[in-house]
Amino acid sequence: MLSVIIDTADKHTQSHSFRVSVISEMIASHLGLSEKDIENIRIGALLHDIGKLGISAETLNKIGKLSSAERIEISEHTRIGTNVLGSSSSRVVDLLPIILHHHERYDGSGHNGLSGKDIPLGARIVAVADVYEALTSDRPYRKALRPSEARKNIIDNSGTHFDPDIVKIFDVIYPSLLREGPMFPSATLGASMVGTGN
Ligand SMILES: [Fe+2]
Repeated sequence: MLSVIIDTADKHTQSHSFRVSVISEMIASHLGLSEKDIENIRIGALLHDIGKLGISAETLNKIGKLSSAERIEISEHTRIGTNVLGSSSSRVVDLLPIILHHHERYDGSGHNGLSGKDIPLGARIVAVADVYEALTSDRPYRKALRPSEARKNIIDNSGTHFDPDIVKIFDVIYPSLLREGPMFPSATLGASMVGTGN
């Protein structure tokens, strides 16, 4: 339910967190991680943008080019989310690295300057899922890319933005990610889960 609230706050990204979570869980499963690690990545992905709740709606929902001050404001969502969630309960401690580091880049040019395998694994997984989902979704300022175009973007940025090992796994699960495929629940499923209590 919290992830639906997060997605509602950012009108550009309806059901984004839910779909990022589905993709992240698939990658984590293919990596053969433990059930606990997969569950942490699934939930961490659902909440990865929780810090956007601390960003002004005006900035978050602005259509058009962001000023450098607005870009900095939005970039703060990783730190805000970590602080907010981290102060809520010690049980979420394993989710915090995903939230804090999901905008790192493998070459070290991301939010906090971590690089390579120093970036927590969950954050490296969510980074790939996050960008693929964003590229294949409509935005007010551009149409969604075709899945094949988004896949090419992910592969082209392997080793610079993304961990090459995660990109390899992404490419294995890619056929399952096509929008109409049975492995990729529709956006309405995420919303319906709130009403049914599932
Ligand atoms: Fe984010």
